[in-house]
Amino acid sequence: MGGIRAAEVSAMTTAHNSKVDAQVSEAQIAVHWREEEYVAPPVSFIGQANAADPAILDRFAEERFPDCFKEYADLLSWDAYWHTTLDTSKPPFWKWFVGGRLNACVNCVDRHLATHANKAAFIWVPEPEAEATLAITYRELYRRVNEFAALLRDWGGVQTGDRVTFHLPMVPELPVAMLACARLGVIHSEVFGGFSGAACGGRVADSGSTILVTMDGYYRNGELIDHKVKADQAVATAAELGHAIDKVLVFRRRSGQYASGSPMVEGRDFFVDDLLPTYRDVVVEPVSMPAEAPLFLMYTSGTTGQPKGCQHSTGGYLSYVAGTSKYYQDIHPTDTYWCCADIGWITGHSYIVYGPLSLGTTSVLYEGVPAYPDAGRVWRICQRLGVNIFHTAPTTIRMLRKLGPDEPAKYDYHLKHMTTVGEPIEPEVWRWYHDVAGKGEAAIVDTWWQTENGGFLGSTLPALQPMKPGSCGPGVLGIYPVIYDEDGQVVEAGSGKAGNICIRNPWPGIFQTIWGQPDRFVHIYYEKYNKHKDSTDWHDWPYFAGDGAVQAADGYFRILGRVDDVINVAGHRLGTKELESACLTVDEVAEAAAVPVIDEVRGRAVEMYVSLKPGLTASKDVEDKVAAAIDTEIGKIARPKHVWIVSDMPKTRSGKIMRRVIAGISNFADVGDVSTLANPEVVADIRHHIQAEKLAHGEAPRQLTPAEAEEIRSFGHAE
Ligand code: PRX
Repeated sequence: MGGIRAAEVSAMTTAHNSKVDAQVSEAQIAVHWREEEYVAPPVSFIGQANAADPAILDRFAEERFPDCFKEYADLLSWDAYWHTTLDTSKPPFWKWFVGGRLNACVNCVDRHLATHANKAAFIWVPEPEAEATLAITYRELYRRVNEFAALLRDWGGVQTGDRVTFHLPMVPELPVAMLACARLGVIHSEVFGGFSGAACGGRVADSGSTILVTMDGYYRNGELIDHKVKADQAVATAAELGHAIDKVLVFRRRSGQYASGSPMVEGRDFFVDDLLPTYRDVVVEPVSMPAEAPLFLMYTSGTTGQPKGCQHSTGGYLSYVAGTSKYYQDIHPTDTYWCCADIGWITGHSYIVYGPLSLGTTSVLYEGVPAYPDAGRVWRICQRLGVNIFHTAPTTIRMLRKLGPDEPAKYDYHLKHMTTVGEPIEPEVWRWYHDVAGKGEAAIVDTWWQTENGGFLGSTLPALQPMKPGSCGPGVLGIYPVIYDEDGQVVEAGSGKAGNICIRNPWPGIFQTIWGQPDRFVHIYYEKYNKHKDSTDWHDWPYFAGDGAVQAADGYFRILGRVDDVINVAGHRLGTKELESACLTVDEVAEAAAVPVIDEVRGRAVEMYVSLKPGLTASKDVEDKVAAAIDTEIGKIARPKHVWIVSDMPKTRSGKIMRRVIAGISNFADVGDVSTLANPEVVADIRHHIQAEKLAHGEAPRQLTPAEAEEIRSFGHAE
């Protein structure tokens, strides 16, 4: 895996750096200062914030590590208190709160019954606006979770430590199923509903689940989508991989009606609403789990193709999401909190379900597309439900800004706090979010983190540290980041240079391993900067996040994006290898390469380059087959913006496809030195053909920012 080679980035991307500022022109300084100006949180926010006393920064200072995290763990109810806060005896397999026992479902549900049983835990908003919203109280959630846990245990035969996979859309049944598993100590693995049946099947096989929980259909963009059909594909794919799915549990979007055209397979497929009446009002004793027991798996894309099942713990993870939800999301039990993301991603697990519920707040779930049926929908939901904390991704913010820049003013809602997560946000978009969507009334946090991390790594503490558009902020409480160059030298804050951002210390939310692949876990995340292989001192094991970043003199980080071969589309990581393998399922295709293109709404979009087997000619039919293969293998989210059929790919002498060269072509950027390629002549041919087509599509080139240019230039790393 490569990395940004201590790349010089423009002074425009660094803040408050007089050395660098001195070297650039007046105009650049002007842009720079306007871009980087601090924005203070509203006074009204500070007055009520959970973390308003700066003493909290001292409590989490490095000399108090690891005991500082007791403060997070103490937000939970434990069955047995731990004896060791951090066990480093088998690095980098850190153990947190060793000796402690707890149940995650009890912490998110049962313990709130005494004080607010009939307060809404979730408010579900169906996509069709005429359909009524549904409030599920903590008491009702308790009932539903217990009944589904009883069904899983007594009918499904699952036991503590087993895995159960869900392929569920944004419906209340999803958190119910998650919490039911947590109650039993069963490890859940939710596959994003938009992923294809094949992608789901691969993940089921990897986790070894024998039960798949799905739904007949759900609404998206005004359409009732047939979802159960994907379960049939998942079963087939798992079978090809030598794994049997014994039972498919099917929730119905509307009880008694079936929204799918796929037949129910006798003895394999069962409607949940047929089975549940047997378990009516059954209460399941929660299983008291060791803090270190896995709570769930969340698959994410990586550099080497096969998705990684990130294994998250019970005690460490739950403490970390509770603590960060309290101090960074500023959640109070009286808030109405809406994270407009999908539970199928880590954001949803941590900051729709586990974090907010552990604090006993009301969490909003929305079924559908944010701009359906129009660009005012999100703001109507905020108005109607009295949402006061709003959380979403830059891709959604860009879309809402593009489709309805003036919509927020039409609605009477008031946010105290807003979050952006998942990819870098452009300062102009940040400002719209703050000034227009937030009406200037909210504190904003730009939270940088990853599926692997459980919770936030970089962010401002909203009442105590000012915001800076485009920068996430410093490391969060108890997280001590550092930027290293390729040789492991520290890149100093304010130097104007970018490098690989790492976290020097372990933290409770960090994933425990890649499911079933401990060596790969060590190799990807720790080997690069490990100082001594046999050391049991955590200082010797920095966590390699795989992101490029630059740190300003004030300690704030600006994240430049991935340094590996992953394309971040609308905040979702797609592995290039997965995309390319999908293309190769099309008979005609000989070779495929996926590259990112800068996209105004989705951040990055995918473009596929394919070359065909000898003797075949390019056709629209093959292009369509390639796009369809990606839909089938991965899902619509990965659908390429273009499929380019080329006669040959630019290659190194050792035969590796030079993705950075084609990425340069797709982005109208400099392709760099191509003289050492095995076939430099194809570069001009491809460029001519593709750029002419793009111009014909009205895709005019735009000047890339220095960070974007660096990302494209270093994409792929096949040298
Ligand atoms: O490149 C970073 C980007 O998203 C990656 C993690 O993606 P994923 O595991 O899907 O998790 C997304 C939600 C936590 C990171 O390696 N990223 C995430 N948040 C930010 C970000 N880039 C810049 N700013 C952020 N706030």
